[in-house]
Amino acid sequence: MFPRRLLHTLFVAALLSLPAAAPAQQLVNGYEPKWWKEAVVYQIYPRSFKDSNGDGIGDLPGITSKLDYLRKLGVNVIWLSPHFDSPNADNGYDIRDYRKVMKEFGTMADFDALLAGIKKRHMRLIIDLVVNHTSDENKWFVESRSSKTNPYRDFYIWRPGHTAADGTRTPPNNYPSYFSGSAWTLDPKTNEYYLHYFAVKQPDLNWENPKVREEVYSLMRFWLDKGVSGFRMDVIPLISKPTGMPDLTPEQLKSPPNAYANGPHLAEYLREMNREVLSKYDDMSVGEATGTTLAQTGSLVDDRRHELNMIFNFDAIKIGRSDFGPSQLGAWSLPELKAIYDAHATTLGKHDWDTVFLSNHDNPRIVSTFGDDSPAMRVSSAKLFETMILTLRGTPFLFEGDELGMTNYPFRKIEDYDDIAVKNAYKAEVESGKMSAAVFLAAQARVSRDNARTPMQWDSSPEAGFTTGNHPWLAVNPNYKQINAAEQESDPASVLNYTRALIRLRAHTQAFVYGDYEDLAPQDAHIYAYTRTLGDETYLVVENFSSSATSYTLPGGLKAGTLLLSDIPSSHEANTSTLNLSPWESRIYRQ
Ligand code: NOJ
Ligand code: CA
Repeated sequence: MFPRRLLHTLFVAALLSLPAAAPAQQLVNGYEPKWWKEAVVYQIYPRSFKDSNGDGIGDLPGITSKLDYLRKLGVNVIWLSPHFDSPNADNGYDIRDYRKVMKEFGTMADFDALLAGIKKRHMRLIIDLVVNHTSDENKWFVESRSSKTNPYRDFYIWRPGHTAADGTRTPPNNYPSYFSGSAWTLDPKTNEYYLHYFAVKQPDLNWENPKVREEVYSLMRFWLDKGVSGFRMDVIPLISKPTGMPDLTPEQLKSPPNAYANGPHLAEYLREMNREVLSKYDDMSVGEATGTTLAQTGSLVDDRRHELNMIFNFDAIKIGRSDFGPSQLGAWSLPELKAIYDAHATTLGKHDWDTVFLSNHDNPRIVSTFGDDSPAMRVSSAKLFETMILTLRGTPFLFEGDELGMTNYPFRKIEDYDDIAVKNAYKAEVESGKMSAAVFLAAQARVSRDNARTPMQWDSSPEAGFTTGNHPWLAVNPNYKQINAAEQESDPASVLNYTRALIRLRAHTQAFVYGDYEDLAPQDAHIYAYTRTLGDETYLVVENFSSSATSYTLPGGLKAGTLLLSDIPSSHEANTSTLNLSPWESRIYRQ
């Protein structure tokens, strides 16, 4: 027993050592400031970034060797697409072992060295959390499929399906897979179907099972404890399945992601994940929100809900095409694109936070899709999109090679592709006779994910300096002699040097982070002109979305102000109401 006096002393000492109440966070324009709101994120697709050992596959030591390049670019968060042990049915989005590094990418020591190199340069790393599904080679699924009574059976979603009088088996419902065909596969061992929204080798986890959730939280802690700063969460709105999983109606079949996403338990799972894991670290979370409408965004990211920090909404990046199955690039107009950003600004409030991006490893190259990648226009056009992404509302996400204005690859035949989505769609559409090969291939060349996945173009040496071997896993774009980092390094007017200047400008201009957004000319077919205002500081961004010179007069007698940056070094128009813009020119003014 302690003497009373000593107890009293201990009690007072304990009181005194309590941390002082956290000072109330100073809001900036109504927003709570956060490092991840001020970040510029750069996505690395490790397979395509830099090969260090000549086997033709990008790897972690390759990334480490390029950290000074990223530091100089000015980005401060790196998002690494999956680096985990995987049989690569879907290039790492099919994980066999969540605690092991993919052998093609290196070892855990290589991962630790990469992370240490990132931290040394005052950057952070976020990794991909792929937990809607695993690989069928994951030990949980190997166990699960082995018998109906295995303790892991309920880690996945098994159903008997239907059996006709003649014994013919059909799947439990009409769900289509994102990668063509049915989302159900009959497994002969136990004679039941398992659900896979993606490839046959990507079985969906059963999040209703609390043991699955505990395993996920545990692997998240494993990587956070190593020092990663958060996660990009793959197809996260799909983890809660629709109640009873009835057939999709003909209407729902027009957009299956909307029917699959945001199931009845999603909020409960995300809140639990936040409480159990995310809230305990200084991390960021960004959900890949397939099937989620803008109106549903708040229900995932509103900071009073304690779920995710941000999501990727695909309305802009998928403009003119569908986000399910083999799509075509259709017509779209600038007013339609602006209407999307305008809607974001009015729908998302001070408790929400947005992302801004026009590319990633699942989409074709920005300049070939939204701009003009012809030799005369490519540079200005690529700079315009960098300007837009780095000055619109939300945390910007750049994809490797955008800062060089890399373009789509000239795909011609099905053998040119690697992506399982294209190969499966070819079987389903062309080999079945539904579509001609010519029509299919013409559409895919414009929209295929492989456009983004060709190796990074570092220099003009063979294979663009990506590998010292002769066989990159996916062909290098033949334009690498004209478009590469080394060449752009020494050219003051390059996309690379312009992007660096933009990131520097953004880094000391809070208005681009927390400022209000106003579109000055929503109906203009060629000009995107908007302001970002924070307190008494207003910045004006003007972009000419056309391959012709265009003049534009600001509304209401407004004058442009001081020119801070233009992609055309000779631009000098300032303090005037009428701006004469070169093709694809973009300018930033301070008013
Ligand atoms: C979205 C990922 O970005 C994509 O690359 C992948 O194929 C699917 N999710 C399945 O994981
Ligand atoms: Ca390699």
